[in-house]
Amino acid sequence: MASPEPMLEWTEDLSVGVDSIDEDHQAFFRVEPMLEEILASSDSARSMLIESVLNILEEYVEGHFLREQQALAAIDFPGLAVHIKAHDKFAEKVRAIIKDYRQGNLAVVESLGPLISDWITNHIKTMDRQYLGLLTNENVDKRPLVCLLDDPEDDLEF
Ligand code: FEO
Repeated sequence: MASPEPMLEWTEDLSVGVDSIDEDHQAFFRVEPMLEEILASSDSARSMLIESVLNILEEYVEGHFLREQQALAAIDFPGLAVHIKAHDKFAEKVRAIIKDYRQGNLAVVESLGPLISDWITNHIKTMDRQYLGLLTNENVDKRPLVCLLDDPEDDLEF
């Protein structure tokens, strides 16, 4: 039997040079091991724990993309429209999986961790690192995601 693929991890070469964004990205990498651990356990609170991870994931998908898009818009980043499309496509995929799980397809949650780790790794390398040196700790909103998401003035229209 083939051994399972090792889980992807955030490494320094994935840094975009902005602490708040690196921390958001690191949180995405924690989803896979958290789900793996919950799925491997026989904890009677398994469903509740999975739901907690999904709630956190939803917050990160929405909040992280908002943080990044606002910062890119503020510097008139030329690749913003393409970047938003990539975010939207991924967010749609994640939401569909979560919806499927909540409608009773419990097995689908197993695909979520690897999907997120793969996507975020490729996305950072190919797209996020395009703003390396343009976004900095000074021009990115570093507030916690919950504050970003609660701020009505932060609603962006593109
Ligand atoms: Fe860090 Fe473009 O997502």
